[in-house]
Formats: sequence, structure tokens, C-alpha cells
Amino acid sequence: MATMTAPPSDKAEIVDIKYPYKEIVERCSPAGRYIDAQTDVDSPWVPFGPNAAIKHLAFDVRRNLYSNILWVKSPGVIGTHFHRGTITMVCLEGSVRYLEYDWVASPGGLILEVPGESHTLVTEHPEGCKLFGWMEGPIDFYDGDANLVETVDVFWMINHYETHCRDHQMKINPKLYL
Ligand SMILES: [Fe+2]
Repeated sequence: MATMTAPPSDKAEIVDIKYPYKEIVERCSPAGRYIDAQTDVDSPWVPFGPNAAIKHLAFDVRRNLYSNILWVKSPGVIGTHFHRGTITMVCLEGSVRYLEYDWVASPGGLILEVPGESHTLVTEHPEGCKLFGWMEGPIDFYDGDANLVETVDVFWMINHYETHCRDHQMKINPKLYL
């Protein structure tokens, strides 16, 4: 096989790839999809406390994975929480930092969080922050006295989304479920 320095075809045409397992992919794959995040057409903002909201983008119950945009609307805090999975986030707007670390995330920056870490999210930006994330596994939320209050996972996120839809007579969007 030749080595590749760039994709060999620059034709703006569909090329029929002879992948031998196409039928199996069609039968078994949840299929890729596009979910609009700029409007509320695919998914509404669901309140997450008085100063924040979550736009749910994807739920994968097989791997306890969930994707969303977290919007903290003005200077505020998402209290101390402990991760049991890996989190990949991109700061879209505003800025955000954690009391435990010495960096400040700004738009376009990548935030990686790993199992075993607990931290406290703070935004001091006048317009808060928007964070896009792919999140894996349970997240344990603690009160100010280090008592475990609730564990959040893909099923908590689905319930958060579906409860809001039911309460506001909105249709549940099947595209969000992988
Ligand atoms: Fe976190």
C-alpha cells in the first residue's frame, strides 16, 4: 500500500467503497447523524439550577456516554464533583476555570478530565461560559460538607431531557439516542 501524505482523491463525488460488511453496518449500526446545536430545533436548553442550562446532544447507553453543551449564563459555580470516567470538553464561549487548577479555558481550548479527579468549576466571565462536552461514566456531586448528594450518568441525563420535554409538551427527539 502506498503511503499517503494527503487523501488521494479530491473529486467532489461519492466514490462507491467496496466494504464487504456494508449490510451488517446497515443492520447493526446506530448510524452517524447531524444534530443542530445553534438552535433549539433538535434539542432545547434544559435548566440546570438557576444560572445554568444543558443542551443535550447525544445519549449512548451502551457506554454510559453523553454529549451536551453546558451553559453557565453569568459568573457562577458548578459545585465540586468527582469523575469516574473521561470527559472531553471544548470551551465555546466565555471562559472557565477550576479552583483546583491554575489554567483558565478560553474559546477553542480543549479541557480533558480523567477518572479519579474531583474539581469545582467557576466562571468569572461576565457572560459565563458555554462548554461542549463528550462525557463518560458517572459523575458524583458533593455538597459543601463533602456529602455525596447525587450521581449523574447517561440515564440521569436522559431523564433530565425527557422530563423537560414532557413538562413542556415537546416531542422527544430520537436522533439524540445512539
Ligand atoms: Fe468535571
